[in-house]
Amino acid sequence: MYQATSITELRQYVQHWKDHGQSIAFIPTMGNLHAGHMSLIEKGQSLSDRTICSIFVNPMQFGPNEDWDHYPRTLEKDIALLEEIGCDLVYLPTASELYPEGLEQISQVQVTDLTDHYEGAHRPGHFTGVATVVLKLFNIVRPDVSVFGKKDYQQYRVISKMVEDFNLDVQIIGQETTREASGLATSSRNQYLDDAQTKKAALIYQVLQQTADQVNQGERDFEALQLRAIKDLDEAGFKTDYFCICNADNLLPATTEDRDLVILVTAAIDQTRLLDNIEISLW
Ligand code: PAJ
Repeated sequence: MYQATSITELRQYVQHWKDHGQSIAFIPTMGNLHAGHMSLIEKGQSLSDRTICSIFVNPMQFGPNEDWDHYPRTLEKDIALLEEIGCDLVYLPTASELYPEGLEQISQVQVTDLTDHYEGAHRPGHFTGVATVVLKLFNIVRPDVSVFGKKDYQQYRVISKMVEDFNLDVQIIGQETTREASGLATSSRNQYLDDAQTKKAALIYQVLQQTADQVNQGERDFEALQLRAIKDLDEAGFKTDYFCICNADNLLPATTEDRDLVILVTAAIDQTRLLDNIEISLW
C-alpha cells in the first residue's frame, strides 16, 4: 500500500492512475478503524480500480468542549488493517497543509437546513467542519466515487447535498451500517462502554426495529411512537437526545405522505453518546 502525506505526493499517484484510465474510490476517515470502516473500503474496491483511504482527525469538526486531543489515534494498527484488506493508498494529510493559516482563516462550507437539527443542533459548527474538510479532500483526491456510512445518516445526507448543491463530479454511495451480533452499531465510541453498558446499548437498535415494525404495520401516529420509544430508552437508563421519525431525504419530521423514512436516534449511556438509525421504505 502506498502512503502519501503531502498533496503533491497524493496527486502524483492519482494522476498516474487516471492516466492509465483507472477509476478511484475514496473513503475519508478519522482512523481508529473498525469493521464499519472496512466495509466502506470493500465497497469502494467493488466499485472502482483503485481505493484511497484518508485518515485525518479533523480539528474543524470538534467543538470547544469536545476532545480532539483525546480522539483515539491508532495509526499503526489502522495501516496494518488497510494493508491486509488491499487498500491501494492511505492519505495522511497534515493540519498545516489543510489549514495553513489556521482554522479561523479557512473559508467555510455551510450546507443549509440539513445541518440545523439533530447532531447539528447538538454540536454547533460540526457539520461545517465536516463539509469543509470533505470538500477539500474531494478537490485534492478528485475521486470518481466516495463511500460514506449510513451509520452517520445525517452526515451522509449533508455530504450528498453538498455534492448536489455545488455540482461536484463525484458519486456518493451510502453504505449500510455494520453491527455487532447484538445489533449495536459498530463505533469507536463502543470502547468506552463497560460490559454491562455494552449489553444495555443493544436496546437502541431493538427499539428502532420495534418502532419501524409498527410503522410498517400501518401505525402513523409518529409523535406517539417517538414518545413511546424515548420512554422505553429513558426507563432503561439512557438519556435520549432525540428519537425522530424523519423524511429520509430532507430529514424533516415525517408526514403521512412520505414513503422513504429514517428514524434517527442519539441516546447516551453516562458520557457516551450512541448514534443509530433505521430506514423504512413504504413503497
Ligand atoms: P469516522 O467517524 O472515522 O467515519 C468514517 C466513515 O466510516 C464515515 O462515513 C462513517 O459513517 C463510517 N462508519 C463508521 N461506523 C460505521 C459502521 N458501523 N458502519 C458503516 N459505516 C460506518 O465520519 C467521519 O469519520 C468524519 O466526519 C469524516 C467524514 C472523515 C470527515 O472528517
